[in-house]
Amino acid sequence: MTALLSRTGARVERLPLSRFTTLGVGGEAEVWFAETHEQLREAMEQPYRILGGGSNLVIADEGVPERVIRLSGALAERDLTPDPHLSEDPWVVTGWVGGGVPLPGLIRQLQKLGLSGLEGTVGIPAQVGGAVWMNAGTRYGEMFDGLHTLEIVTPEGTRQVTPDDLNWGYRDSGIPRNHIVTRVRLKLRRAAPEEVLAKMDFADQARKGQPKMKTPGCAFKNPGGVSAGKLIDEAGLKGSRVGNALIAPEHANFIVNLGGATAADVHALLGLIRDRVPVPMELEYELWPAPGNA
Ligand code: FAD
Ligand code: EPU
Repeated sequence: MTALLSRTGARVERLPLSRFTTLGVGGEAEVWFAETHEQLREAMEQPYRILGGGSNLVIADEGVPERVIRLSGALAERDLTPDPHLSEDPWVVTGWVGGGVPLPGLIRQLQKLGLSGLEGTVGIPAQVGGAVWMNAGTRYGEMFDGLHTLEIVTPEGTRQVTPDDLNWGYRDSGIPRNHIVTRVRLKLRRAAPEEVLAKMDFADQARKGQPKMKTPGCAFKNPGGVSAGKLIDEAGLKGSRVGNALIAPEHANFIVNLGGATAADVHALLGLIRDRVPVPMELEYELWPAPGNA
């Protein structure tokens, strides 16, 4: 299907979702590129899913029947100018940063501007909206360290909330699924760019042992602060392979695509991990559609 324009001018195209995921897996769906709030509201008139950087997703080879919304245009722009009414030295509250902004470039830009607070999230290949939705982070910091206000859009309307309004925690914003984080204002501290860079480099060191292949990152959340990777490793599962998906020899909580892996291959490895690791672990990956929901 060639691209069509919707009633409000959103570009709509049937596309393979593998193109949008870091795992490189996922069948076709109707993708709505929403550039404005008006286009977003139209996209949400039918059942939908919201796609960010695709860096935590395992999407079925059959694709998904719902509309898949991607924030772009004005919803992927950033205004990092300090708001004079909300900023008070050393704190800077920025203008709006769109949910569709790629996080890695934003983190580099904040470092150059000498704005500290989010550098611990260096290396997370997400979009801002996706990273906020699951409060992505590392041992050195998480998204909720640097948020002032969040704008959330649902089919019922648009509202602004602060972190205090949400029940957030480790890898969890408390925002219900399919409530779309359209933009956020950041609250950061003025610091020397070299100081921010040093913290970024330190946090990045922790990634040296992570695999470099196509992957959606860690498969399971760390139960009670224990490394799920260590538990999977201790169960002897490093290097286990189903089809073209592999439990990475570098870090057992990463499943990688050796080339041509299918969602079913990844599901089989997740099942193997669940069977063999004695500790209950919550999945970090998002499965589209959820199992039993196909
Ligand atoms: P997607 O994968 O596109 O979607 C994930 C979920 O977020 C879906 O439910 C989706 O519907 C929802 N979502 C997406 N955008 C929005 C939005 N605008 N509003 C509301 N909901 C939305 N994660 C960490 O926490 N720490 C790490 O250190 C880390 N390292 C990684 C390293 C690699 C190499 C990779 C590939 C992944 C890593 N991840 C890490 C996992 C991943 O980057 C995070 O889970 C990230 O938050 C996913 O964001 P995304 O924008 O890619 O979302
Ligand atoms: N370990 C093993 N074997 C493995 C993996 C890890 O023994 O296969 C051991 C390591 O040797 C180390 C300990 O477990 O002693 C912790 O490992 P690591 O430093 O890699 O941290 P992690 O807890 O496994 C977490 C996050 C990562 C994040 C890193 C760095 C989760 C689920 N994982 O991993 O986040 O990048 O810390 O801060 O919280 C993600 O969420 O997708 C992700 C990649």
